[in-house]
Amino acid sequence: MSNDYPYTEQYPVNRGLPEEGRPRAEIAAELASMAEAEDAVWESGRCSGTMYCGDHEHYAFMADAYARFGHVNVLQRDMCPSATRFEGEIIAMTLDMLGAGSMGPDADPAGMVTSGGSASILHAVLAYREQAAAKGVGRPNFIKPETAHPAFDKACHLLGIELRRAPVDPETTKADLDAVESLIDDQTIAMVGSACNYGYGTIDPIGEMGAMALQRGIGLHVDACLGGFILPWGRELGYPIEAFDFRVPGVSSISADTHKYGYGFKGTSVIAFADRALRNGQYFYLTDWSGGKYFSPGIDGSRSGGLLAATWAAMVSLGRQGYIEYARRIFSTADAMKAAVASHDELRIIGDPTFCFSFTSDVFDIYHVNDEMRQKGWRFNGQQYPNAIHMAVTRPQTEPGVVDAFREDLSDAVAFAVAHKDEDPFSAAIYGGVAGGLTDEADEFIRGIMESMMDAQQGLPPLD
Ligand SMILES: Cc1ncc(COP(=O)(O)O)c(C=O)c1O
Repeated sequence: MSNDYPYTEQYPVNRGLPEEGRPRAEIAAELASMAEAEDAVWESGRCSGTMYCGDHEHYAFMADAYARFGHVNVLQRDMCPSATRFEGEIIAMTLDMLGAGSMGPDADPAGMVTSGGSASILHAVLAYREQAAAKGVGRPNFIKPETAHPAFDKACHLLGIELRRAPVDPETTKADLDAVESLIDDQTIAMVGSACNYGYGTIDPIGEMGAMALQRGIGLHVDACLGGFILPWGRELGYPIEAFDFRVPGVSSISADTHKYGYGFKGTSVIAFADRALRNGQYFYLTDWSGGKYFSPGIDGSRSGGLLAATWAAMVSLGRQGYIEYARRIFSTADAMKAAVASHDELRIIGDPTFCFSFTSDVFDIYHVNDEMRQKGWRFNGQQYPNAIHMAVTRPQTEPGVVDAFREDLSDAVAFAVAHKDEDPFSAAIYGGVAGGLTDEADEFIRGIMESMMDAQQGLPPLD
């Protein structure tokens, strides 16, 4: 059993149900104490991504919306017409933001609210598989530029689809169009372009990919899980971001996460389809079951009305102007942070990113910089091939003083890296964070993290 099981010092470990229920006030105090300690990690703004909104008043407002519908099962739409309204309007607002109106009066766009970015991607890949199967494709393959998210590899793994990975241009980190095209054959169901990718924050050439998709008769999914709720506003603010959504001919589906820059609670995302017929491929029917005729719109059965209510409330309370104002601050904060990086000759920003950027060094291992930044309380995401650190700028970094702290701490960290460049750094590239652990022992390190999670999921935390 792993020794990493948390909170064993402070709180009782429940190895089974407590015999008597505990007082609510005591439980509430325990929850508040854990939440306050954990929130302090990102409230300083020294954290990449993950906490997109960071506004406790907004969270409390969404929690109230959630509380009114958290017990509601969206499957029972007769009992909760509000869920139909929430989901319909979340999809409509997202389609509008993603330029679905530009497809003309004959277009029939549609969508679904899923439980997150990976779920949106899974449903898109499922829809393409079903569409292709109806045309006789029996050995489906799906193409992703290497930088596209692992959720595509996972979806293909789960759905029995061959994932073909195309290299990207190492300078720009964008999809190499020739490499992508060379992988297309008569069993290719679709390909993905990212807007933007997680690692580098760069945007694939969606216009060219759309033209290729149309010419070769395959689908083009745009993964805008990260960028979908912020890049449209960046375009409106005049940042040089090319069209990446339904305005681009050939784009047939888009994933955009309400639980990232949509500022909703964790657990929601929108999968948007240019055409309803493609969307319908993810539906499931079983009409001859003894338990009654069964239908569900996707992989989940029961879904919580609370998440739909909270997401809807977040979107309509912010409105277009709210999103644009948040984006304006995030983009200008990212510009200031990128300028701080660029002021060091030893550092190099990779590609041409916008609100999410990554940087490396040709002089020392960039993880030395991370080691020192960690000491100063910063938490970045780490990458490999080449080693790099990535910063997805969110609202907590737009607070006064955070950019100044970044600039100062980065200067110290560069000096530290120069001084220690002949030693091994301590950090390693772990998705969603740069954890401690020797770089060359990173595999062992991630195995350790997985083992402790697997132990906890066995439901038998340590006795002592
Ligand atoms: C570009 C991109 N796609 C997909 C995902 C997967 O989203 P989720 O973690 O919500 O499943 C992420 C997550 O960060 C992402 O950045």
